[in-house]
Amino acid sequence: MSNSSNVTPNDLNAFWMPFTANRQFKKAPRMFVGAKDMHYTTAEGRQVLDGTAGLWCVNAGHCRSRIVEAIQQQAAELDYAPAFQMGHPKAFELANRLVDIAPKGLDHVLFTNSGSESVETALKVALAYHRVKGDGARSRLIGRERAYHGVNFGGISVGGIVSNRKMFGSLLTGVDHMPHTHNLSKNAFSKGPPEFGTELADELERIITLHDASTIAAVIVEPVAGSTGVLIPPMGYLKRLRDITKKHGILLIFDEVITGFGRLGTPFGADYFGVIPDIMITAKGLTNGTIPMGAVLVTGEIHDAFMNGPEHVIEFFHGYTYSGNPMAAAAGLATLETYKDEDLLTRGADMGEYFGEALHSLADCPHVIDVRNIGLVGAIELESIAGSPTRRAFSAFLKAYDAGVLIRTTGDIIALSPPLIVEKGHIDTMVDTLRTVLNLLE
Ligand SMILES: Cc1ncc(COP(=O)(O)O)c(C=O)c1O
Repeated sequence: MSNSSNVTPNDLNAFWMPFTANRQFKKAPRMFVGAKDMHYTTAEGRQVLDGTAGLWCVNAGHCRSRIVEAIQQQAAELDYAPAFQMGHPKAFELANRLVDIAPKGLDHVLFTNSGSESVETALKVALAYHRVKGDGARSRLIGRERAYHGVNFGGISVGGIVSNRKMFGSLLTGVDHMPHTHNLSKNAFSKGPPEFGTELADELERIITLHDASTIAAVIVEPVAGSTGVLIPPMGYLKRLRDITKKHGILLIFDEVITGFGRLGTPFGADYFGVIPDIMITAKGLTNGTIPMGAVLVTGEIHDAFMNGPEHVIEFFHGYTYSGNPMAAAAGLATLETYKDEDLLTRGADMGEYFGEALHSLADCPHVIDVRNIGLVGAIELESIAGSPTRRAFSAFLKAYDAGVLIRTTGDIIALSPPLIVEKGHIDTMVDTLRTVLNLLE
């Protein structure tokens, strides 16, 4: 039987950490205790340069005073308001400010608490939309190999990461997957969208022929697949997906949890690629990583399809206790103001050039088999150690951390996605540190 006196302060055992090698971590923990702008402070008092915007979310840099104050004020003024059948002004205001910066036509917003919840919300909107239109046979969902759409059942079903799927039974039925677009034999060391592979979008036509368009509700993709190692779509690929989905009456969903809020040097990935989806999923940068929040933007056409029937009846049976939570809404508003005042949603366009060139200077370091970049996100892919995949990149992660730079690794790919306030000097430090680290690797 557990007894509270057994819980020793600072005992690391109770917290079962997410996506972490728990036993390894707890033998040699890495703890952050503070942060400001581009840097974390470790428990030992070291400064660590943030090369990953936390977990792709702290786009305006850490502990920005406007956001901190907005959260503090909101906590004292209105801590919580019921999300169902009641409202509070800031949730409406935030929805409006989001619509202001979103691609044209995406003008209604559902709030969630994470990227994973945004994904589930988007998939459910898509299914229900066809049903309210009297087209309920459209129930299939099409995702892609090597996609990450969070960890809930809908998301892992349309996602394409084997280890995230294989433990969890048969998942959603009626899901199919397009091939991923990563092709090192043709596209290694590309700058921006690679040249080869546009025709991979035509695989969608094959899948549609197999199932018949009348059974397919939606196609979901990340404009740039982030979590599986920054897989940048071939030129014209997303446009072709848009054309095919439109032709067949299938909704196109962009999961912009990573590409949203300036990561590619444009407000959203949709802006970068000039392709507007029917549904856009966001989270992370929405509140600069401070208070958990996500948002799903949909077109007026989708929203209006639900606004039928008697007015006293709930139109969409979905939502969360914390949808549009006051503290999250305050954080979101202050975050969007910060992005606007500092032009952060487009800063990655210029700074991305310098960042890209700096990353590509690592091309001839040992073990490097690819460098790729777009906006303020980039990846360095390493050759795996035979029989021991992930080991080489994880060793780079540990060495970079010891040397004062936070990077992220997935498989044997190093990903960099610094806060959008990054300066050239920070980029030089990241790249110089990585060069030293790469030269030390086994
Ligand atoms: C594209 C994409 N979708 C969904 C998610 C899930 O977000 P969360 O971890 O907030 O649930 C992530 C997280 O990295 C993501 O990159």
